[in-house]
Amino acid sequence: MTPPPAAGGEPGSHPIDPEELVSSAVDRLETITTVAALDEAQTDLVGKRSELARAHQGLVSLEPDERPEVGRRLNEARRRIESLIGDRRRELEGGERAARLQADRLDLTEVIAPPLRGRLHIVERTRDELEDVFIGMGFAVAEGPEAETDWYNFEALHMPPAHPARGMWDTLYLDLGGPETVMLRTHTSPVQIRLMEAQGPPIYAVMPGKCYRRDTPDARHIPTFHQIEGLVVDRGISFADLAGTIETFTTAYFGPDIHSRLRPSYFPFTEPSAEYEVTCTICKGNGCRTCSHTGWIELGGCGMVDPAVFAAVGIDAEEWTGFAFGFGIDRCAQMRHEIPDMRVFFDNDVRVLRQI
Ligand code: DAH
Repeated sequence: MTPPPAAGGEPGSHPIDPEELVSSAVDRLETITTVAALDEAQTDLVGKRSELARAHQGLVSLEPDERPEVGRRLNEARRRIESLIGDRRRELEGGERAARLQADRLDLTEVIAPPLRGRLHIVERTRDELEDVFIGMGFAVAEGPEAETDWYNFEALHMPPAHPARGMWDTLYLDLGGPETVMLRTHTSPVQIRLMEAQGPPIYAVMPGKCYRRDTPDARHIPTFHQIEGLVVDRGISFADLAGTIETFTTAYFGPDIHSRLRPSYFPFTEPSAEYEVTCTICKGNGCRTCSHTGWIELGGCGMVDPAVFAAVGIDAEEWTGFAFGFGIDRCAQMRHEIPDMRVFFDNDVRVLRQI
């Protein structure tokens, strides 16, 4: 049997076998992975300059009786190649569309974390709340420096050099001026002096701020802590006004179940002096470990302004009387939020701070 006649190429070139055109097209199409490469292959395989096109043109060089058969086989080859290209195109376009869809996909189930918002530290918030209570009672808010001189921190408060009460307030001295003349203030009481110097009576003011002491940290002491000072100077101010103010503040800040009591005490700058205690918020007065089973917690000190303090700032103690108090902001926060150990405020563990 004679092999089927091949289509002629250019005159003089080798005849082209349509079956081979199909199988080389199959090979070529298999390697193609993009629609763009397929377009190129289509031009090469069935375009005007393709081998197939040349084979068609070469038909004229065949014997006339061979032409119909070879022409039919060439047409058949073209149909198959075109159908293969069509199949491949559908595959590739489908794949590309799927890839695009995948890339564009919006995951509507994704939970986006809300932006982190900061919050005020518990001590700041407590300070603001305390200020609010006193502002509501008609007090103004004043502030003073944390680095104080001996005069303001001690002497004007009726503690001359070598006064034994200075021992209650040891602190850090700064390398400024003469030895031991400038220090980190041990209480907010010096702001009383600054206020009385700056303005005459009548005075109704609270003075919050940071204080420093040479204390060993424990559940209720921190060497850097916060106090709020109060000072009232007017005509006819009595100890009853002091007690009433303290009780009003206590119920306003801690709630109606918590009350105050004053116990005789000693401070150089007040006479008489008292310790200010509130019902233990942990046991509501029944007695527990935090209050050493007394039912009361000490928050600070208070008393009637000593005439010697008025003398230091040039206020006439015959005409004016006044009371003062000072207590720990941190300790207020600790009692109000029933926190056993004050040190958690300053460990800066945000997991704790976020909760209080
Ligand atoms: N400054 C005192 C302290 O830190 C507290 C204090 C006591 C303040 C009596 C006062 C006061 O204003 O009158 O321990």
